[in-house]
Amino acid sequence: MTSSSTAPGIALPARHSAGCPYGPPPAYTEAAATSRLTRATMPGGESVWLVTGYAEVRAILSDRRFSSDVRHPAFPLLIAGGRDRITENPSFLNLDDPEHNRLRRMVTGDFLVKRIEAMRPDIQRITDETLDTMTGGRTEADLVADFALPIPSLVICLLLGVPYEDHEFFQRVSRTLLTQSSSPELLLDARDEMLEYLKELTARKRKEPQDDILSRLAVRDDLTTQEIASTGFLLLVGGHETTANMISLSTALLLEQPEQISRLADPAALPGAVEELLRHLTIIHTGVARVALEDVELGGTTIRAGEGVMAMLSTANRDEEVFGGAGRPIDELDLDRDARRHLAFGFGVHQCLGQPLARAELQIALATLFRRLPGLRPAVPHEELEFRTDSFIYGMRSLPVAW
Ligand code: HEM
Repeated sequence: MTSSSTAPGIALPARHSAGCPYGPPPAYTEAAATSRLTRATMPGGESVWLVTGYAEVRAILSDRRFSSDVRHPAFPLLIAGGRDRITENPSFLNLDDPEHNRLRRMVTGDFLVKRIEAMRPDIQRITDETLDTMTGGRTEADLVADFALPIPSLVICLLLGVPYEDHEFFQRVSRTLLTQSSSPELLLDARDEMLEYLKELTARKRKEPQDDILSRLAVRDDLTTQEIASTGFLLLVGGHETTANMISLSTALLLEQPEQISRLADPAALPGAVEELLRHLTIIHTGVARVALEDVELGGTTIRAGEGVMAMLSTANRDEEVFGGAGRPIDELDLDRDARRHLAFGFGVHQCLGQPLARAELQIALATLFRRLPGLRPAVPHEELEFRTDSFIYGMRSLPVAW
């Protein structure tokens, strides 16, 4: 049996600087090739376990002995410094039950599959209007700024009741928040700016409630303004950058493999194709963090109480034992692969609340884009594409396209 004190460590890369831009950083795949649990060093210098195998990642994410509570002194942080301020006012993403469950329950109903299915006409309308604006009188555009970002951003604003006129503000703040190279001060000031904005909005909603999530939260007497702002923050930031990056990365990748695009036109194949894109791209490259509350034995290794763990969704989603077999190799996109068991949305009690929404947005955005613009092509060579190499959520800075 191995234990933390004897194992060697690898340094977690601060940015995705080498290898295939659509796959996880090589440091992770190399670690996964040698062992399913590896010692690693976080940017701030703390040692953690890098967990790379599918079965092990699932085991950790469904085990309550691994905590998501960012206030735990050994919780792994992706930025160096600022621990005191980072742990203030956590959203339910970074809390354990029963607090996590109490707050998550307030918004579960808004993201149920049935509710999101009923929103499909709105998402389709938003997609069509965004595409009309993008193509109006033009033959070239930046797919990130003109398509991938506005769609999820408009949809989450509609759901939350956040005025879309403020999008430049919250998109700028989200960017700063998600940039790994931002200094802790810059990042935490951005977070506080966003929380202040949401608190003011909540106060307005309390006076004049409308038919939206923030209004429904604002009129409850069992939630503090701080809790409402933290929940709104999580939904606003989590609700647009993730899906936006999936839309732009999927488009860039499909434009490099145009023979697969026709699968999106088949309504029976579309949902499965989107699951494979989610598996293959797994945009939360850094993995999800946990800290062990007790000693836990996992695959012959003991993770000690107080040790941090990074559960690597990206390498778990390339586990040959689960996704290998017929069709293309595991490192390649294969829109006919059965990828339904992927972990791109996490697993266990913190599994992504917004996944029905993300799925609907991805299916509608990608199918509509390639149907309406059959001549869509990259406007720059692959080498000139700019990826978000230093973001907590992997993606693209821009994607110049022509049609
Ligand atoms: C393709 C897009 C998306 C991906 C890949 C994604 C990924 C994830 C992952 C991996 C987690 C789990 C984190 C953990 O276990 O620590 C998560 C949680 C979460 N996501 Fe998403 N997400 C996406 C879209 C969305 C959208 C559209 C929303 C919505 C509004 C959203 C809201 C949330 C929330 C609220 C949580 C916290 C759940 C909890 O702690 O109980 N996500 N997401």
